[in-house]
Amino acid sequence: MASADSLLRQPWRTVHGIPMVCAFAHNWERVDAFQSRPEDIVVATFPKSGTTWVSEIVDLILKGGDPEKCKQEAITNRVPMLEFAAPEMLAGTELLVLMPSPRIIKTHIPAHLLPKSFWEKRCKMVYVARNAKDVAVSFYHFDLMNKLHPHPGTWAEYLEEFMAGRVAYGSWHDHVKGYWERRKEHPILYLFYEDMKEDPRREIGKVAQFLQQDLPAAVLDAITRHTSFEAMRDNPTTNYTSVPADLMDHDISPFMRKGIAGDWKNHFTVAQSEHFDEDYAQKMAGTDLHFRTEL
Ligand code: A3P
Repeated sequence: MASADSLLRQPWRTVHGIPMVCAFAHNWERVDAFQSRPEDIVVATFPKSGTTWVSEIVDLILKGGDPEKCKQEAITNRVPMLEFAAPEMLAGTELLVLMPSPRIIKTHIPAHLLPKSFWEKRCKMVYVARNAKDVAVSFYHFDLMNKLHPHPGTWAEYLEEFMAGRVAYGSWHDHVKGYWERRKEHPILYLFYEDMKEDPRREIGKVAQFLQQDLPAAVLDAITRHTSFEAMRDNPTTNYTSVPADLMDHDISPFMRKGIAGDWKNHFTVAQSEHFDEDYAQKMAGTDLHFRTEL
């Protein structure tokens, strides 16, 4: 792999037709050929949809709700990202082969490009979707602070890129629709970020049930407390402050930024919102998938 410096702020690289983080695109065969295990649990999302939140929830559920067990390691090691690769760090695929089962595997890969092995082995998947406007705002701030991504330019410029699917992992619209369709024939628990904000305890209960973990009410309460935005923001194992500063600059924008539904209203102009809605209606026509953009 190239040196760290030569991978910073590089343009996306196309992988199977979608834009990919340059550092991850290297040797993509490792991802395509990845061998799943039937007991793997996949946490799949479009970026900035609540991946870290639901990863922490799943890990806590498997650990019986004991936060001390989770605090022993950063979330990036407890729930490795399948496609991750960066200089001088173990790739996600390398980390995962070393892990005992059941593994929790994070990925942003769209359904049609997810390694075949996950579908063949019928691995359980927890998918989290978040409304497109809040994702765009969150992704913009993430691109500002994450040096493995190209600089996003101005918000106005970025919004056009997002709508056209010229951001990492491609089109948000295709991503959310892809897993929504697959859930008809595959064990996928499809969650919404807005529902999790509205009633986290209820949604955590759904995850526990999906994973066939019968947890007492007090444990579900403890998981709810431990995975609040404030608790995860202040927890060094979940707030990404352990990532080297030359890759992520939290002074530009913290990874745990706001954690709310409806922040888009602080960033979209009225004209941008109307333009976005028009484009959205076309791209989401014909689906019964609906989002709430505020609570
Ligand atoms: P914002 O940038 O809108 O604050 P991902 O983990 O998929 O990268 O998503 C990151 C987004 O989820 C960020 O959104 C982050 O603040 C938010 N988030 C992370 N943990 C959260 C939690 N416990 N509750 C609510 N939002 C959370």
